[in-house]
Amino acid sequence: MAFVPDVRRASRLRAMDPATVAPGPPRAAPGMPILEARDLAKVYNLGGTRVEALRGVSLTVREGEFVAIMGPSGSGKSTLLQLLGGLDQPSAGEVVLTDEVLGRLSDDELTKLRRARTGFVFQFFNLIPLLDVVENVALPFTIAGVDSRSCDVVARIRDVLALVDLTGKERHRPDELSAGEQQRVAIARALVTRPALLFADEPTGNLDYTTGGELLDALWRSSDERNQTVVLVTHNSRAAAYADRVYVLRDGRTIDEIALGRRADHDAGPLIARLTQLGL
Ligand SMILES: Nc1ncnc2c1ncn2[C@@H]1O[C@H](COP(=O)(O)OP(=O)(O)O)[C@@H](O)[C@H]1O
Ligand SMILES: [Mg+2]
Repeated sequence: MAFVPDVRRASRLRAMDPATVAPGPPRAAPGMPILEARDLAKVYNLGGTRVEALRGVSLTVREGEFVAIMGPSGSGKSTLLQLLGGLDQPSAGEVVLTDEVLGRLSDDELTKLRRARTGFVFQFFNLIPLLDVVENVALPFTIAGVDSRSCDVVARIRDVLALVDLTGKERHRPDELSAGEQQRVAIARALVTRPALLFADEPTGNLDYTTGGELLDALWRSSDERNQTVVLVTHNSRAAAYADRVYVLRDGRTIDEIALGRRADHDAGPLIARLTQLGL
């Protein structure tokens, strides 16, 4: 059973330390569930006021899937992504990520799991201004104390820069790149450790139409060519239309799950029609 944690957990956690660069952790068979949320609730207490950001969300993501989480501003999308990626703890419910029940891990184990198995891209790229493209992409290795000049790491960086179409920009610093290029560096940095899951929260939120499209194309290639599992949070139906499946959130609840299937044309028409039916 994919989701029953066992006594080998501790040794598996040691084995997935990113300091051991090659090869990545064993991956589930194609199409196996790789991420599961069970009845997640999240309450924020803000100066005496209770905000119920999530009110019982369940979802499953299978290996290789490209899933979008959509919904209006304030519907709980970012909160959900933080819980799915182990950046925050739910008030109730649980998250199972690559066979690990996140709530049962120590802080240290959770940090290791996050570093080894997840990559994150946010709306604002958080690149380091003084570092060039290669150095920014190498950061996860530098942080883990792995020599970023080793053959394996150099090859990985070259490969991931080709995937996001940045070959030739290796020595540029962030201020010498367009916003779209900077965001593709952020994607390369998130992918270079070959995470089991790539999480992206409104990655096109700061980009114009054309550069947003280039970024979505890069995400799509990671999914279609590399079998990368992607969870994309967006309020934008054009972005969500790149996904195989879309969960729609409203007021902290999933109100719909829309199977679009894998489509190279990313036509947003069917999704928009469904959202209109839902009154969104
Ligand atoms: N750290 C926080 N403290 C208090 N309330 C929060 C916090 N983060 C989010 N919220 C509230 O939770 C709800 C959901 O927020 P969020 O997950 O950011 O929604 P979305 O990403 O869909 O815009 C909103 O009402 C928001 O104001
Ligand atoms: Mg948000």
